[in-house]
Amino acid sequence: MKLNFITSNEGKFREAREIASSYGIEVAWLKMKYDEFQGDTLEEIAVKSAKALSKAIGEPFFIEDSGLFVEALNGFPGVYSSYVLKTIGNPGILKLMDGVENRKAYFEAVIAFYDGSEIHTFVGRVEGEIAEEMRGEKGFGYDPIFLYGDRTFAEMGEAKNAVSHRRRALENFLRWLSENFLS
Ligand code: IMP
Repeated sequence: MKLNFITSNEGKFREAREIASSYGIEVAWLKMKYDEFQGDTLEEIAVKSAKALSKAIGEPFFIEDSGLFVEALNGFPGVYSSYVLKTIGNPGILKLMDGVENRKAYFEAVIAFYDGSEIHTFVGRVEGEIAEEMRGEKGFGYDPIFLYGDRTFAEMGEAKNAVSHRRRALENFLRWLSENFLS
């Protein structure tokens, strides 16, 4: 079975390809940027984007949308993660968290799968904490400030992919797919 993954991010595609291969599923990269809708939740945004894309694509595909949610900031940057990274970035988040004791945060990823007629969503989360300072060189985005145990995601390198929100969403999706379509 072959699955189309629509994303402009090569890292996301590689990770999905590697995980899917252990399920005997091949992932094809439909490399394209698409308009992301606004919404209150990642799920709402992913569903709206997938609906719009389904009109243009017409065959099964999936997309993935993710964000960082900080408890003490009431979930900020959340659905604005991309914009916030481009504007205030990691130093800005650290500043907002200066002196804040509750450092709990999580990454969430939502996959929206269009099966040719309907859209199905799958969620993955990983819990961690906001570090006191940026650490590590290996990741991207918010990885240098996201502590998982005593290392940041940017210090973990490949080991991050075993526990990431994206991995968890993909596994929920692929498990469902193999139960519903491949059995
Ligand atoms: P999007 O899903 O590509 O729109 O990502 C939203 C924002 O969250 C982007 O700015 C990413 O850099 C950030 N982000 C998503 N996943 C991760 C991750 O695994 N590590 C660090 N930042 C992430």
